[in-house]
Parts: sequence; C-alpha cells; structure tokens
Amino acid sequence: PAERVSVLDEVDSTNLWLARAAREGAVSGTACLAERQTHGRGRLGRQWVSPYASNLYLSVLWHFELPPARLAGLSLVIGVALVRALRGLGIEGVGLKWPNDLVCQGRKLAGILIEIGAEEGGPVRVVIGVGVNVMMPPAVACEIGQPWVDLRSLAPDAVISRNRLAAVVLAEIWAACAQFAQTGFGAFRDEWLAYDLTRDQPVRLVWQTQAIEGVARGVNDVGELLLDTEAGVRSFGIGEVSLRIR
Ligand code: BTN
Repeated sequence: PAERVSVLDEVDSTNLWLARAAREGAVSGTACLAERQTHGRGRLGRQWVSPYASNLYLSVLWHFELPPARLAGLSLVIGVALVRALRGLGIEGVGLKWPNDLVCQGRKLAGILIEIGAEEGGPVRVVIGVGVNVMMPPAVACEIGQPWVDLRSLAPDAVISRNRLAAVVLAEIWAACAQFAQTGFGAFRDEWLAYDLTRDQPVRLVWQTQAIEGVARGVNDVGELLLDTEAGVRSFGIGEVSLRIR
C-alpha cells in the first residue's frame, strides 16, 4: 500500500487521527494535515491553539525498527528538519531550544509533539506532530500561554503559501526520518548544535518536579541535554522535562 496525505477540514488532533489510522494499518510515511484542530495538543499535556486556516497542523506516521530508547533523538531531528524547511523558503534566524522548540526573536514559532505507539512486537509506530505558526489571528493570540511569533510577522513582505510550506516540511520530515532510521541522531548532531539557542546559557530545567539550574552545554550523541551543574555535567533525556532560560 502507498503512503497517503490526508487533508482534513477539521479534526480533534492530527496526531490522534494518525494514531487511529495507524491502528487500522496505515503505512509508514502516511501524513495528515488539518485546517483546524478542536483538541490540538502540545507537549507536557498542554493545549495547542489551532484556529481555522491560519497555521500549519501536520502529522506524519513512521515505523522505526529501532529499540524505543534509540528514538529519543528523533524529536531533535525533526527540529533540524523544520529549520531546513524554513531556510529553504528563505526564512533565516530560526533556532532550536532543547528539546524541540523552534524559536525566533526569543519567541516560539513552531512546536513538535512526538508520540510513540504501544509496543506490539515489530516496528515501533511513531506519530510526529508539527505545528507552525503562520498567521495567528489576533482573536486567539491571548489564549497562547507563552511568547510566540508567526511567519507573517517574520517576513511581512513575503507571500507565505501554507501549501508550499506544507510540501517542504513534509519532504524534509520524510527525508529526516529515513536518514534517522539509518544513522540515529549522531549524523544530525553538528547541525542541531549549529542552531542551538541555549548553548552556554544559564537555564533552569524542571525534571520530576525538581528544578535543576545549570549552564547548557549542548547535547550528546543521543540528543540528551548536557547541563553543567554544581554536581558536574549531567545529561537529561527529553521525558517529562521543561527548560527555561534563566
Ligand atoms: C509543543 O511545542 O508543545 C508541541 C506542539 C505540537 C502541535 C502539533 S499541531 C499538529 C499536531 N497535532 C497535535 O495535536 N499536536 C501537534
């Protein structure tokens, strides 16, 4: 069976839609986009504000023949794929905040939510969800609980086609997944570090209700954050972690 790209008018969440499709046998590479999400989801149980015909809400299903522990670097890899896509469209100055926020001018431009399916033997089913702010309507702006930016304000003179953006993002995600399956995070590490906005910054990491302060020192070859703390350099996986620049 061939991979498919489904474009929906409205959905609860493109990630949820694709997880359901995966249970019904959707193949690796299948993608879903929607004009609006009624239950758009962000990391750490947050909501993702998803107004109609304004932004990009896209998910891709991929089957990885990797032990789940090796999948940790995937969300960083998708960050690299998105920066590549934006640069390909002439949008510069976008950096990455570990684990996987796309940030420009100190404000969030895009987010990534990766969900790993239950193990049933065989390949691991992974749903990769991406939200890119393109032209956020002023009416919903106040619902967003963090500083944000959209492509319209970054490139006011450019005509931003969401179709073109979707095509380029999709192509970069497909290519990055295929490469990650072969090489793991290692092959992406230098590029990730080139876009790393937190390097050498004092940060506060919240991990299992504990706040840990230190200076960010990039990532190791599986994508864990290296944090220079009073107790020496410690590494953190992306699990239930949030990070703030102090
Ligand atoms: C985050 O930064 O918290 C992650 C946001 C991910 C949002 C996207 S929009 C498409 C896909 N469907 C969802 O429900 N969430 C992701």
